[in-house]
Amino acid sequence: MSSATQTNKPRVLVFDSGVGGLSVAREIQQRLPGLPLVYASDNGFFPYGTKGEAELIARVDLVIRSLLQRYPVDILVIACNTASTLALPYLRSHLDLPIVGVVPAIKPAAKLSRSGVIGLLATPATVARPYTHELIREYAPQCDVISLGSSELVQIAEQKLRGEIIDHKRIAHITLQLMEHEKATQMDVLVLACTHFPLLKEELSVYLPETVQLIDSGEAIARRVESLLGNTVPNDNHFIENDFPENNSIENTSIENIAVFTKKTTEATRLVPALIHFNIHQIDYLDLQ
Ligand code: DGL
Repeated sequence: MSSATQTNKPRVLVFDSGVGGLSVAREIQQRLPGLPLVYASDNGFFPYGTKGEAELIARVDLVIRSLLQRYPVDILVIACNTASTLALPYLRSHLDLPIVGVVPAIKPAAKLSRSGVIGLLATPATVARPYTHELIREYAPQCDVISLGSSELVQIAEQKLRGEIIDHKRIAHITLQLMEHEKATQMDVLVLACTHFPLLKEELSVYLPETVQLIDSGEAIARRVESLLGNTVPNDNHFIENDFPENNSIENTSIENIAVFTKKTTEATRLVPALIHFNIHQIDYLDLQ
């Protein structure tokens, strides 16, 4: 693959409505530590999980096109289940670059589950999408799937990354809703099908039975990016860090990563410490035409 950037290093655009895509960026950074990332948050249209389908496709199309114009990249990662389960076919037929989409990890969950009861925690939109139902029909026909859509959890993840105090009682309430299902005691795998939710993995685990394994698509996405890049990833020892600290922060510094927001807000500014934690030291704002 030839590089789209002037430095000849391949560059990847990771896109989400908010901070959720950082859970995917983290997996990519762990797998490919030297890879420059453009992290884009469409905070001007956040949250996606409550938006209508037509308006969301139009918005994603507009933002992605503007981003690609400003930041030439080699791969686009739609690090958002809500956008991917809706807009992937459209984007793939309209854009001329490899696109990796994040969709609910139903297939691995069905393989992993011994009880045949799996949970699906996503945005209300992802839970309702025909794409998601198709995944269940195709890969988990033998499973009972307990689905719950929550936009509140998306907001809580945003608050956490802004360094605000989060309401653990709300998280407890959401997990309780999931556990109210008649087969919930048999649930052994829970799919975190919104990229915001892995950012709350520890908090969620507190209120779920220990027997429930939480899974998401992040690592699979990182592997897919790696295979698409082939051998073009810089093998620059300066950037290679194999022993990640327990809190998963990426300690090596790179000036090449950048976060782009679609709206200048005080909330976006408050994300700076979290972005540094993800080794992103520059911020830009996109002027949408
Ligand atoms: N992070 C997004 C996802 O994976 C959605 C959050 C939102 O509702 O904007 O679905």
